[in-house]
Amino acid sequence: MDIKAVILAAGKGTRMKSETTPKVLHQIMGKTLLGYVMDNVKNFVSEQFIIVGHHADEVEQFVKCNYQNAKTVLQSPQLGTGHAVSMVCPELVNYDGLVIILCGDTPLVREETLKAFVEFHKTNNSDITVMSTIFDNPTNYGRIIREEDNSLKCIVEEKDATPEQKAVKEVNAGIYCLDWKKVKDAFGQLKSNNAQGEYYLTDIISWGKGQNLNVSAYILQNSDEIYGINSRQNLAVATKMMNRRNLEKYMAEGVTIVDPDSTWISEDTIIGQDTIIYPSTYIEGKNIIGKNCKIGPCAHLRGGVEVCDNVKLGNFVEVKKSKISSNTNVGHLSYIGDSELGSHVNIGAGTITANYNAITKEKSRTVLKDDVKIGSNTVLVAPVTVEEGANIGAGSVITKDIPAWALALTRSPLKILSDWVSRKK
Ligand code: UD1
Ligand code: CA
Repeated sequence: MDIKAVILAAGKGTRMKSETTPKVLHQIMGKTLLGYVMDNVKNFVSEQFIIVGHHADEVEQFVKCNYQNAKTVLQSPQLGTGHAVSMVCPELVNYDGLVIILCGDTPLVREETLKAFVEFHKTNNSDITVMSTIFDNPTNYGRIIREEDNSLKCIVEEKDATPEQKAVKEVNAGIYCLDWKKVKDAFGQLKSNNAQGEYYLTDIISWGKGQNLNVSAYILQNSDEIYGINSRQNLAVATKMMNRRNLEKYMAEGVTIVDPDSTWISEDTIIGQDTIIYPSTYIEGKNIIGKNCKIGPCAHLRGGVEVCDNVKLGNFVEVKKSKISSNTNVGHLSYIGDSELGSHVNIGAGTITANYNAITKEKSRTVLKDDVKIGSNTVLVAPVTVEEGANIGAGSVITKDIPAWALALTRSPLKILSDWVSRKK
């Protein structure tokens, strides 16, 4: 059966208190919240519809640049989550398959969980399935209200809940699976007579029951996964949860993380066995790190970094969009950006690839071939290539390509003025 996804990403995210960034484009370790959600469904749905509204241009741009099988649909004005889904109805007039609905602000849910959720929907012959979980502190989430026989009754939002309903700990994850043909009519029939004056998607539960549809809940055991982000506080908590999950995975695969409390590694980084990550290292975005590497302490990998085996990136080394071949050392206090480093290269302390021209705003590449040795405190002004085996003297500013096996240095001659100090005294 065909599955399509609808991801709600039009809301203002008032509680984030951001003027410049829509909520779903806030980031966790170099990846947007919406990016996490879209990545988690892209492998098992045929098409994704992203409902955009607040800062629609930016969200649209993000979707267009990063995802092929995704379409954005404008919701303006934003009258609630149910109204948001109704925007997609014209796109799915004759569709006869499943629709899975997710929120763009819930990045921790895993692909396996979503697949199990859809399986549950199918094996239960369900028409509407909602994902729920149990929270010790359910504040701010919609509560799952059940009948006496434990079947689903409805979902009540915090702002509409009675004190008894507020005491319920089973909450709505904001993830739904719908048999589209049977449920699509709901979206013309939802009402907005609630505390927020919005069309709530949550009302499809009671609507479905009224239509005698098969409505069920899938209770997720690991409640961390549906942690929603509504504020900066939530963002910090989610970042920590995501990081802990990633670090556990790397350690299980044979990577030493010396201090998990001070180490941050993104989900989209691949790390080879026996690599050691030293404390206070921050690795964001997509990266590949080989086997037997030593990274940090205090290294910063900013994404697009590919590091082969036996490489050392030492303390206070920042690397972005670069490839570093095996057995190369970047020991201390260096910046390597938009670069390609060969094997057995040694980079002296304090070396900088000057990749950015502040006037043209262009970025250029630095290429260092195999066996190149760069003296400390060198500036490599890109675009520049240092051919195989060449050496650069310490303190140089390199503005031209250097031929293989040459020594290059830009250095004013050393003057020694004998007894200068004693004469001054
Ligand atoms: C929503 C659910 C709540 C659930 C919680 C889970 C409703 C009414 N409430 O509450 O039951 O426990 O998620 O995290 O559905 N959005 C739009 N258009 C709109 C309004 C919202 O696209 O008009 C998007 C937002 O961008 C967001 C998502 O829908 O990604 C959820 O909206 P949000 O305001 O965060 O809902 P919650 O109050 O968290
Ligand atoms: Ca939310």
